[in-house]
Amino acid sequence: MATIAHKIGTPLTAISGHLQLLLEDPQLSSEVNQRIQIIFRQTHRLNTVMQDLLNFARTPTLAFEPVSIPHCLDQALQLFLPIFEKQSILLSTHYQASLPLACADFLQLQDAVNNLIDNAIDAMPHGGQLRVSAWPQDRQDSVVHEPGICIEIHDTGIGIPPDCLESIFQTFFTTKNIGEGTGLGLAIASEIVQQHQGKLSVESTEGKGT
Ligand SMILES: Nc1ncnc2c1ncn2[C@@H]1O[C@H](COP(=O)(O)OP(=O)(O)OP(=O)(O)O)[C@@H](O)[C@H]1O
Ligand SMILES: [Mg+2]
Repeated sequence: MATIAHKIGTPLTAISGHLQLLLEDPQLSSEVNQRIQIIFRQTHRLNTVMQDLLNFARTPTLAFEPVSIPHCLDQALQLFLPIFEKQSILLSTHYQASLPLACADFLQLQDAVNNLIDNAIDAMPHGGQLRVSAWPQDRQDSVVHEPGICIEIHDTGIGIPPDCLESIFQTFFTTKNIGEGTGLGLAIASEIVQQHQGKLSVESTEGKGT
């Protein structure tokens, strides 16, 4: 996969570079300039898809360590604060005081959370409320005897139609327009959660939130 990505990525980078140079030509008519901008944007999109695929194909070795879940969540949320502000999304966090440290890969867990926040943002294009909570919870059906932690990311967005609920964790399932989603976010998040002996689940009401 990495070799294929490299073979496709290298010419894509060359194409982007030449397009960028072309765009700097002051003699271009505005019509040609617009066309080149479209090609440039689409090339950029292809690059993003390749990157997503590459991340998906890589099975990283997880580095488990004691992790403070509130710290991990707060750090993930930090990156999105400007978007929340721009999109009128009101954030609230509720972390139970008695939370034990989790045995987790900090960066991988953050990656999973980022994908869920990304989806919540997409579901609230005209603003809404994002509530992030964490509380201790016994693990069910698990051979692991350490205490479990439940993390909930709740939005007041468009919600998910009942007939889509079964499919959303499938690789490449997306309801988003071409260029807006590849359908990899939840598949990646599920895999990361599973590697932590956890389970990703969803509850959603159309028109109300997820
Ligand atoms: N919070 C949410 N609110 C509404 N729909 C959601 C939410 N989370 C997921 N979905 C639905 O599940 C689908 C799959 O989500 P997933 O994150 O896997 O892919 P994506 O967001 O479409 O693309 P990508 O994450 O690769 O950019 C979405 O296209 C959307 O229909
Ligand atoms: Mg997504």
